[in-house]
Amino acid sequence: MYKVYQHFLLLFCFLFTLTNSSTSFSCIKNTPCQCLLAKHSFTIINCSYSLPDLPILNSNISRNITKITAQNALSHWPLQLCKYSNIQTLDLSGSHFKFQTIDFLCLSKLISLNLSHSQIEKIPNFLQIPLKYLQILDLSNNQIEILNGSLFRLLNNLQILYLQNNPLKQIDYFGHILSLSNLKFMNLTTSSINVTMKKSLTTNEWIYLAHKWKNSNKSLTIHTNIISLQAIFPKTDQFQLIPLDSMKIIFRILSNSIFRNINSISKCNCIQLRNYQRVFSFSSNNPNLSLLYQSSTCSMPNGILHEDLLIKIHVHY
Ligand SMILES: *[C@@H]1O[C@H](CO)[C@@H](O)[C@H](O)[C@H]1NC(C)=O
Ligand SMILES: *[C@@H]1O[C@H](CO)[C@@H](O)[C@H](O)[C@H]1NC(C)=O
Ligand SMILES: *[C@@H]1O[C@H](CO)[C@@H](O)[C@H](O)[C@H]1NC(C)=O
Ligand SMILES: *[C@@H]1O[C@H](CO)[C@@H](O)[C@H](O)[C@H]1NC(C)=O
Ligand SMILES: *[C@@H]1O[C@H](CO)[C@@H](O)[C@H](O)[C@H]1NC(C)=O
Ligand SMILES: *[C@@H]1O[C@H](CO)[C@@H](O)[C@H](O)[C@H]1NC(C)=O
Ligand SMILES: *[C@@H]1O[C@H](CO)[C@@H](O)[C@H](O)[C@H]1NC(C)=O
Ligand SMILES: *[C@@H]1O[C@H](CO)[C@@H](O)[C@H](O)[C@H]1NC(C)=O
Ligand SMILES: *[C@@H]1O[C@H](CO)[C@@H](O)[C@H](O)[C@H]1NC(C)=O
Repeated sequence: MYKVYQHFLLLFCFLFTLTNSSTSFSCIKNTPCQCLLAKHSFTIINCSYSLPDLPILNSNISRNITKITAQNALSHWPLQLCKYSNIQTLDLSGSHFKFQTIDFLCLSKLISLNLSHSQIEKIPNFLQIPLKYLQILDLSNNQIEILNGSLFRLLNNLQILYLQNNPLKQIDYFGHILSLSNLKFMNLTTSSINVTMKKSLTTNEWIYLAHKWKNSNKSLTIHTNIISLQAIFPKTDQFQLIPLDSMKIIFRILSNSIFRNINSISKCNCIQLRNYQRVFSFSSNNPNLSLLYQSSTCSMPNGILHEDLLIKIHVHY
């Protein structure tokens, strides 16, 4: 490995003064591993995990690079990233990063980061430095078991979060994710069966969120087959603690979301029914809400379903 790397460094010491618009060359001699260099982007293809690190370019060239694409190429988290201090788009999907430390130190300008299919077992430490421009984050198709929303709390600009296809077992601080000001879409679809929710949202947190969302025209679309709306909502007997106007805001913002369906139809008592009725009476003429609350989960003690009144959740299995 070390030998290959030496070879590889040498190759890059003399190669460049980039005059024309793009150039391509062999990243590692006598292998199909190809480097394509354009004025602002650097693409590595056909390397099949043979690269121990990113190639080193003349610093005047690498400073101009804003986009690096190296899919299925790296066997380690690249240590040379700091040489590319202006990267905004980084696609290292399909790398072998299992157990390795993912270091964001030189990546403060990132706008889009793709670490999907990279064998990652934990959410990387997004608290290390503020990635305040990051808008798109793809952590899908990894081996992440704990989703700790707390780690995302500094990603103020995050708009799209892909977390699908991770073998999740535990979700903690989900409220931190919901309160990301710019988040628009999140995919949390997985085949995990048993996911425990820790620190679910309190009534006060929902009131806070509604307040925050009040004057925005944002929409937060969450696609999940593991979290039911009931799992993150206050219990029905606490509904009345949340002002009706706040409830309306919450439903408006989440109206395009798909949550897990709760299959069992539980019986509701009169008090619950009144609370549901109060909250859902306004929702019946919004077609998107009827998608969100599509199936009834609660029936009157006499067994009659009150579908118009009760919590409805889009069936997703
Ligand atoms: C990458 O490999 C594929 C299949 O081996 C080949 O068709 C393609 O031309 C290669 N691309 C480059 C730029 O070498
Ligand atoms: C970078 O560019 C500057 C000015 O054009 C030049 O003086 C310097 O030698 C270049 N550095 C390298 C490493 O080529
Ligand atoms: C880097 O970009 C600047 C501005 O686009 C350009 O003037 C300069 O020639 C580029 N340097 C290299 C080495 O391509
Ligand atoms: C990330 O990379 C994977 C695999 O290369 C690709 O399928 C996916 O669309 C990319 N994600 C984004 C957000 O572009
Ligand atoms: C989530 O992160 C917080 C601190 O940011 C920590 O207190 C908590 O224990 C973590 N939860 C899990 C399940 O690791
Ligand atoms: C979310 O991820 C699942 C699982 O990969 C996929 O089937 C679905 O199309 C994704 N949804 C969106 C809207 O991207
Ligand atoms: C899921 O949890 C239930 C109840 O805690 C348990 O009986 C079941 O074995 C678990 N299933 C898996 C696949 O872990
Ligand atoms: C609402 O959305 C429009 C267009 O999508 C945008 O221009 C406007 O600034 C938004 N208003 C607020 C309060 O976010
Ligand atoms: C309902 O959802 C559709 C598709 O996602 C969207 O175009 C439309 O604006 C939504 N309507 C309301 C009232 O939210």
